Amino acid sequence: MAYNFDKEIIREQSGSVKWDLRESHGGNDIIPMWVADMDFKAPDEVINALVKRAGHGIFGYTYPSDSYREAVCAWMKKRHNWLINKEWIVTTPGVVAAFSAAISAFTDEGDKIIIQPPVYHPFKKVIEASNRRVAENRLIIKDNRYTMDFEGLEKLLKDGASMMALCSPHNPVGRVWTIDELQTLNELCIKYDTLILSDEIHSDLIMPGYKHSVMAEISSGENTKIITCTAASKSFNLAGLCCSNIIISDYKLRASFQKRVQSLSVSTPNIFGLTATETAYNLCEGWLDELIHYIHRNYTDMKSYIEDNLPLIKIAEMEGTYLSWLDFKEYGLSDSTIDEILFKKAKLWLDNGPQFGAGGEGFQRINLACPGKILLKALEGIKAAFSKIIF
Ligand SMILES: Cc1ncc(COP(=O)(O)O)c(C=O)c1O
Repeated sequence: MAYNFDKEIIREQSGSVKWDLRESHGGNDIIPMWVADMDFKAPDEVINALVKRAGHGIFGYTYPSDSYREAVCAWMKKRHNWLINKEWIVTTPGVVAAFSAAISAFTDEGDKIIIQPPVYHPFKKVIEASNRRVAENRLIIKDNRYTMDFEGLEKLLKDGASMMALCSPHNPVGRVWTIDELQTLNELCIKYDTLILSDEIHSDLIMPGYKHSVMAEISSGENTKIITCTAASKSFNLAGLCCSNIIISDYKLRASFQKRVQSLSVSTPNIFGLTATETAYNLCEGWLDELIHYIHRNYTDMKSYIEDNLPLIKIAEMEGTYLSWLDFKEYGLSDSTIDEILFKKAKLWLDNGPQFGAGGEGFQRINLACPGKILLKALEGIKAAFSKIIF
C-alpha cells in the first residue's frame, strides 16, 4: 500500500459536520459514522495544489478553464469509458444544488417527480421544498438484495410524472445498477418522454467485481433527456470545496439548465473546488484505487465480524459507495429504540433508515470510510450494546 489509510486524523474543531455536531447527538465520546464524508486526508497532490493556489493570494471570480474541462473529460473516458465534450459540462456548487436547479428549470409546481426509496433523503426534501410532489416507486427487496420495481415505475410514468430521479449507484442500499436494469429504465423513460436526472456522485466508488454504467452512455445519444450529476467530492473527500460537474449532451436542455443556474446565481465555481477536482482527476487515480481496496476490506471485515458476533444483523451487499446498509429488524425493536441503543450504549452515530423514506424502517446506514481501528471499535460497541438485549 502506497497510502496510509490506517492513520487516525483528529477532525474535532475543524468545522466538521460529522465530528463537531456530536454534542447535540449524545456527546463528544460518540463515534460518528453517519454523513457521507471520509475520515481520510485528500491525496497529497490535491493538498499541495490547494496550498499553491492559496499562496497566489488573489481569489477573484473564476470559471472552469479548458484544462479543467479536459481533466473532467479524460476522467470520464478512463474511468467510465464515457466520451463527453468539454461544452457539455456545467459546474454547480454541488449535486443537490443541481437537482434543485433542474427541478425549477424543467418542472412546474405540483408536478410529480419519481424517487425510489429508500434513497438519499435530500431528494424528497428538495422536491417538497420546491412545491412539487414526490411519486414513490419503492425498491423491491428480496433475499436481502434490492431491485427496481419496473411495473410500479411504468404506472408512475404513465400517470404523468415529469422527472425521474435516479440514484446510481444507489445510496443507501449500495446497489450498482446493471446495464440491463438501466436499459429497461431508459426505455420506459423514452416511452413516456420523461426527463432522467441521474445522480452518479458515487460512481467512482465501485467495489471489486462490479462495474458502473453511465446512464447517458447506455442510451448512446438516443435519449437526449438525461442530466448526469457527477463530482470528485465523494471519491476524493472534497465535499466542503463545493464543486460538481453536471453533464448534459443536448444543447437545448443544457442551455435551459445553464440559464436557471445563472438566474439562481450559483454559476461561479469555487476556485479551490476547481483546483482540487482538476488535480484529483489528473493525478490521483492510484490513490482512488487503493482507497477502494481499503474500503472493501473494511466492508468484508465488518461482514465477518457481524456474521460471527451479531448474527441478527443482516447486511445488504455493498456493491458501490462506502455506505453499508444494515438490517436490525430481527431484534424486533422500534427505530427510536435502535437509535437510543446505538447512541447511548454503543456510543455510535449512524444514519437511521427511516430518514431515507419508505422501506428504511429497521435499517441503519454505516459509513465505512474510516480507519479500520475506528470501525472495529464501533463494531465492538454494537456487540456490547446489542448482545445484552433480552427477547
Ligand atoms: C446520492 C448523493 N447525491 C448527492 C450528495 C450530495 O452532493 P453535494 O454535496 O454535491 O450536494 C450525496 C451526499 O451524500 C449523495 O449521497
